[in-house]
Amino acid sequence: MTNKRVFSGMQPTGEPHLGNLIGAFSNWVSMQDEYFSIYCVVDLHAMTVPNEPAQFVEARHNLAKMILAVGVDPGRSLLYYQSAVHHHAELSWILSTLAGLGHLERMTQFKEKSDKSGQNLGLLSYPVLQAADILIHKVHAVPVGDDQAQHLELTRDLAERFNHRFGEVFPIPERITPEIGARVMSLTDPTSKMSKTDAPKSRIDLIDTTDQIVKKIKSAVTDTGSVVAYDWEGQPGISNLLEIFSYFTGRPIADLAAEYETAGYGTFKVAVAEAVADGVGPIREAYLGMSDEEVAGVMSSSAERARSMADDTMADVRSATGLT
Ligand code: TYM
Repeated sequence: MTNKRVFSGMQPTGEPHLGNLIGAFSNWVSMQDEYFSIYCVVDLHAMTVPNEPAQFVEARHNLAKMILAVGVDPGRSLLYYQSAVHHHAELSWILSTLAGLGHLERMTQFKEKSDKSGQNLGLLSYPVLQAADILIHKVHAVPVGDDQAQHLELTRDLAERFNHRFGEVFPIPERITPEIGARVMSLTDPTSKMSKTDAPKSRIDLIDTTDQIVKKIKSAVTDTGSVVAYDWEGQPGISNLLEIFSYFTGRPIADLAAEYETAGYGTFKVAVAEAVADGVGPIREAYLGMSDEEVAGVMSSSAERARSMADDTMADVRSATGLT
């Protein structure tokens, strides 16, 4: 095991779905072999939109359970609730003094979310807290989907600014996105990304049963025409299904497109649905089989270790900035 570290996080704002699995979790799991891995249920981020407290408790817990079910291994990696390690918020404040207001106001997610749920300061400073999540553990790599590219750029920028002003404290972290499936699209609108907060039939959730998966994929919006081809311009619906198919079969997209080219959309969709159901089934079973106590135990012991690691970084930050 190297001493290189990886960090990533996910918000407890809805059911985890295929986009989360393919775009992020798959790398969270595989990177454990090479990096010391630190993963987080980012509950403070989720507070930037309204939550009902009783449901929030459950959403946090269920997401933690799902992260373990997909294969994050608490024997070698950390998994904790962001709010259990106060250092994230503390470092966020310090980084916020280096973040330009204009830059934050131009962030796509700020513009989208503030249109939907009204503006609040937390939504604006959201990416600064994300930078703090990453930098508090001095990590080298961050596995995320495509939609996090802007936030990772800001993180790198803040790390560089901090280092430039106060001396080298932070490594500059790399964004790691998969070659295929960095942006899994909605089943009902293949021009927008699959999202936890959209209608259930637009996404495959990782707790969906085989029946639900087959139904959703059969009714996925595809394109006019009948030839199966990988062509995002002309056939976004089919291209999205081809990427998903390739992920679950481990076969190159070109092979799959050649095999199903003239099979017809119906046959193609059945094959995709079977592959997805086979891949998701074991995750659902692992999730259903896991005890709540086990999850709670992992969350609290990881948080304790994460606090002690974050103490070390904050000591460096305090001494570099004169806050000693
Ligand atoms: P979140 O909770 O929206 O999503 C979690 C992860 O899933 C990826 N993802 C997707 N990948 C491919 N296709 C999709 N349709 C899709 N939808 C979501 C996301 O890119 C992400 O990797 N701001 C972050 C949470 C966060 C974070 C961090 C991430 C907070 N602090 C520090 C990394 C490092 C977010 O809202 O992810």
